[in-house]
Amino acid sequence: MNTVTENTEFWLDTVSIRQIRKPDLPGLEWGGEYKHFRRIYADAYQRVLKGLSLIWVAELHPVGLIGQLFIQLNCDRPELADGVYKAYMYAFRIRETFRSRGLGTLMMKTIESDLKRRSFSVLTLNVAKDNPRAQELYKRLGFVVTSDEPGIWSYPDDKGIWHQVHEPAWRMEKTL
Ligand SMILES: CC(C)(COP(=O)(O)OP(=O)(O)OC[C@H]1O[C@@H](n2cnc3c(N)ncnc32)[C@H](O)[C@@H]1OP(=O)(O)O)[C@@H](O)C(=O)NCCC(=O)NCCS
Repeated sequence: MNTVTENTEFWLDTVSIRQIRKPDLPGLEWGGEYKHFRRIYADAYQRVLKGLSLIWVAELHPVGLIGQLFIQLNCDRPELADGVYKAYMYAFRIRETFRSRGLGTLMMKTIESDLKRRSFSVLTLNVAKDNPRAQELYKRLGFVVTSDEPGIWSYPDDKGIWHQVHEPAWRMEKTL
């Protein structure tokens, strides 16, 4: 195990959970693992600049970005995010070495407080049906399943090649 992770309290206390800045964008690719999402990240960042989205990152010195969570405040699916009451979270990931040590929960609590300050009262998400551990985490945090989401979407990768994703999911919601 990485020595940084041996003392949970020490490293978790030094993690900075903050909103993204432009120089952070390459760090979201996690050294190439998520390079195929480069255009998605660039588009999301443009939405941040327009006030439509938020991108939260968790940074640990000297490691770099070890977590991320995207929020849509408004989108073309009002059942997910309506710009007033409902916000939608997605692309929530913690780097593997740092999982199951409380960082994900800390990020969720941070963004929930921020959304409340912005007067949002409902947080929505889609979680893959084959991801029971994440479902457990969300239940523990007070989310309940509200519907079924087909989970069909597509995206252009970093080379502009389109990919179809089929990831059946549960819609979960929490009153903030
Ligand atoms: C889900 C995730 C963001 C939670 O962050 P975290 O820092 O591990 O969260 P916490 O330490 O606060 O809570 C840990 C809980 O997260 C859940 N979890 C979900 N996927 C997990 C994974 N791959 N590894 C570890 N924990 C996971 C479990 O319920 C876990 O509880 P447990 O340790 O008692 O089993 C993180 O585990 C992760 O990046 N998983 C892979 C990507 C993913 O599934 N994202 C959610 C998409 S909807």
